[in-house]
Amino acid sequence: MKIGTPLSPSALKVMLLGSGELGKEVVISLQRLGVEVIAVDRYKNAPAHQVAHRSYVTDMTNKQQLEKIISLEKPHFIVPEIEAINTGYLKEIEDKQPIVVVPSVKAVQLTMNREGIRCLAAEELGIATSPYGFANNIEELKSIVKTVGFPCFIKPTMSSSGKGQSKITSVVEIEKAWNYAAEAGRVNNGKVIVEGLIDFDYEITLLTVRAKNKQGRVETFFCEPIGHRQEHGDYVESWQPQAMSKKALEKSQQIAEKVTSALGGLGLFGVELFIKEDHVWFSEVSPRPHDTGMVTMATQRQSEFELHAKAILGLPVDTEMISSGASAVIYGQHDADGITFEGIDQALTQKGVDIRLFGKPTSFKKRRMGVALAIDKNIESARNKARQAARTVKPIKN
Ligand SMILES: Nc1ncnc2c1ncn2[C@@H]1O[C@H](COP(=O)(O)OP(=O)(O)O)[C@@H](O)[C@H]1O
Ligand SMILES: [Mg+2]
Repeated sequence: MKIGTPLSPSALKVMLLGSGELGKEVVISLQRLGVEVIAVDRYKNAPAHQVAHRSYVTDMTNKQQLEKIISLEKPHFIVPEIEAINTGYLKEIEDKQPIVVVPSVKAVQLTMNREGIRCLAAEELGIATSPYGFANNIEELKSIVKTVGFPCFIKPTMSSSGKGQSKITSVVEIEKAWNYAAEAGRVNNGKVIVEGLIDFDYEITLLTVRAKNKQGRVETFFCEPIGHRQEHGDYVESWQPQAMSKKALEKSQQIAEKVTSALGGLGLFGVELFIKEDHVWFSEVSPRPHDTGMVTMATQRQSEFELHAKAILGLPVDTEMISSGASAVIYGQHDADGITFEGIDQALTQKGVDIRLFGKPTSFKKRRMGVALAIDKNIESARNKARQAARTVKPIKN
């Protein structure tokens, strides 16, 4: 593995498609290794734009626009950071050019759509999941809900962060859930998944890294399991490690290894699993750093972002956790541009606490604008600290 000098003909170039807060940290990790980074997003001054060598604003579902930027920049690696990308074009790139799509086009295509990954896991790999079915219209939806039963979740097949997702308990709620999914599905292909509720004890993200080992062969490495709490399908706090029985952890690792090796390539994956006693169900997987994994910026020697950057480049990784800790989301609380944050100084007076502000130009009440991180000897106190720090940071509308 060779890395050249950025901004010179020998530069190793990585292009990020999607430049949110997770992409921003991936860029910082790549910058630390002397990689030249180009960040692309659909709006100006996105978080990763602010730390990349160059940035572009474009519609990433548009083939012509992507083609123009890629032929101009000629990156060695393309790292998709979001799901709404023209993956058909990425497939053409992977087939024709010596550009590596991270972790693989197959992984990006299958995970951009709940249908692809669910069918792979449940039907091809035989992994336990919630009962499910797909519907293209309200009539189909009514019949699928009947088979799956109540309570169930209705989600657009293309969405993330709980967008367009409803949990319903009766027939009268079906129509509202359909309309909500249709409105919020990011690329509205009009299809929803119905998932039966899994009555789990807790849920985890198992960060799983496919990286080269000492012998130069691809090996699967695991981080300590991350527990998290979701509200309306969106993560509000996470902690590491989540206490688990030996059996449940082993099963989780087996599932994660199976799914990520089927997806292929090099990089870090966030495998979401539901756990009840020793039973484990696969939920979904991100072929990239996971929002709940932001806690690793405090708890691990190499955060999920550094692990991703290193794995992509074919470098060895170290998934060791050095302290238990927690993260808590800082929301915008206002619908406004250019907001200000107060109380950061106060939050940082707590030992073991750190703050990240993403620098998003526009705030929404429920938009994630930052995260509070905390380490402590036990999870309860780390969670309390992180939540307290997040509360102390006050977004102000100017
Ligand atoms: N079938 C299910 N059973 C129980 N809880 C679920 C189920 N599906 C989703 N949830 C809850 O909603 C959260 C978000 O759902 P998820 O499918 O991960 O959507 P997203 O892709 O938006 O993250 C999950 O982390 C979990 O807390
Ligand atoms: Mg999820």
